Amino acid sequence: MKKISIISTLVILCSCSAKLITPTQSDVDRVSSNYPGYTLADLNQGKAIFIKNCDECHKFKKPSSQSETEWQEVVPEMVAKANKKAGSIIIDAKSQEQLLKYLLTMRTAGKTDTEKTPL
Ligand code: HEC
Repeated sequence: MKKISIISTLVILCSCSAKLITPTQSDVDRVSSNYPGYTLADLNQGKAIFIKNCDECHKFKKPSSQSETEWQEVVPEMVAKANKKAGSIIIDAKSQEQLLKYLLTMRTAGKTDTEKTPL
């Protein structure tokens, strides 16, 4: 019985953390003409900022849940909310840029690859 609950806990934990698509070099390649000099490290940094800051008040909003224009409007608003809640600048202008690029890059990720399910 104990074993079963441990296993089911693990399954639940894994399915939660597996929800976000892991950025790969091919995602970087897809957008590199839009963002010259963009690297996988930048993309992962954007994801880290998202994970750290964007489920404080609501669940994570999927990168694929908003259009490009919507993200461009929503991100500055949410960054302002996050900074206000923290009482200091926890997401600066550079981090905001990396966060936005992550969301815009990953919102179209996995659409053509049947093995990847968008979050
Ligand atoms: C201080 C609280 C707070 C933080 C932190 C926060 N949000 Fe929000 N967010 C809200 C509220 C309030 C709403 C409006 C109600 C809702 O849709 O849940 C919202 C709505 C949204 C929406 C939906 C907008 C729409 O028009 O449907 C998106 C997308 C979003 N947030 C993304 C983010 C991202 C990305 C971050 C990380 C930078 C973030 N949020 C951090 C409070 C927050």
